[in-house]
Amino acid sequence: MTSSMTIAIDGPAASGKGTLGRRIADYYHLAHLDTGLTYRAVAHMLISKGWPLDDAAHAIEAARLVDLGQLDKHALSAHAVADAASKVAVMPEVRRILVDKQRAFAAQPGGAVLDGRDIGTVVCPDAPVKLYVTASAEVRAMRRLRDIEGRGGSADPAEILSDIQRRDERDMGRADSPLKPAADAHLLDTSEMSIEAAFRAARSIIDGVLAERNEA
Ligand code: DC
Repeated sequence: MTSSMTIAIDGPAASGKGTLGRRIADYYHLAHLDTGLTYRAVAHMLISKGWPLDDAAHAIEAARLVDLGQLDKHALSAHAVADAASKVAVMPEVRRILVDKQRAFAAQPGGAVLDGRDIGTVVCPDAPVKLYVTASAEVRAMRRLRDIEGRGGSADPAEILSDIQRRDERDMGRADSPLKPAADAHLLDTSEMSIEAAFRAARSIIDGVLAERNEA
């Protein structure tokens, strides 16, 4: 029974939280929202209009226009968009607008899985299941490199690592809703875990919560 089940997944860039979120949503038949795409959509709009990334008035306008039904993962996947997203994500008013949209998504009757940076702490603080997925920066950089190479591309490993470290600093160091585990989050360090093992660990946490609910 997963009705009204909200699953909050947070973690740093390239931790595997997105893949895990999608698999969990498929398995439990829940809707899924990668909230990073909402920040990327704002960044993408600013870039494509040639507006500066620190222009709060335009960023707010762009945030209001974000339509959760129109998020194109492929169009938003560029590295420059990801980097710009972590810059617009420091603006409190942009966050407030996007968080409202994310909460509306989370409130849908069938339940939902949301992944991001502040889901367990800010967007869905009452979620019955919170996972904090992490891995060392080196492992995350290696996974990203394999990903790029798997798609026929190439990249400098040192640059990928420093890029991940820079985004961690920005996401964890900002004043509004910094990335951190919620007090009641289950930590999943996937540094030495396959995605399959992480999925199994997540399932056992979720099934435990579902069993408790059914007993109550
Ligand atoms: O998960 P991602 O790489 O697509 O996220 C892009 C940026 O968006 C990330 O660097 C910080 C921001 N973000 C955020 O501040 N809060 C979220 N819930 C999701 C993403």
